[in-house]
Amino acid sequence: ATLLLLHGPNLNLLGTREPGVYGHATLAEIDADLRQRAEAAGHRLESLQSNAEHVLVDRVQAAAVDGTAFVLINPAAFTHTSVALRDALLAVAIPYIEIHLSNPHAREPFRKQSYFSDHAVGVVCGFGADSYRYALDAALKQLASA
Ligand code: DQA
Repeated sequence: ATLLLLHGPNLNLLGTREPGVYGHATLAEIDADLRQRAEAAGHRLESLQSNAEHVLVDRVQAAAVDGTAFVLINPAAFTHTSVALRDALLAVAIPYIEIHLSNPHAREPFRKQSYFSDHAVGVVCGFGADSYRYALDAALKQLASA
């Protein structure tokens, strides 16, 4: 199957961005690691990072017709703001897992609110770059039992 990995704003800066909060792994490393693991399991993984809400909305809409079976998404700051990205995921009705490097519940109060968690298959947060691996493992398990 084809999995789509989406990253929201500022995640292009991973590696140098607040390493005490987000770790030292770069986005390219995370993408390559997940692609490799997905392929080893016989799947395909595409990834996209954007700082622009509409680019992510357009990509989710495209996923409805390109055969994407599962979405892994770290909406980053859009987690707490984007009704539009939430609506896009609900519109295409593709199952998704919400991912965060940090644990938003242990940070500023405004990070406790997510527009994505209530419809997610699950949420993985707080494990740094490993959050992405755990989410991929969960997605692969879901696909195997589908
Ligand atoms: C984040 C958490 C968000 O609150 C924040 O805005 C981000 C990254 C994370 O992965 O920990 O940009 O999604």
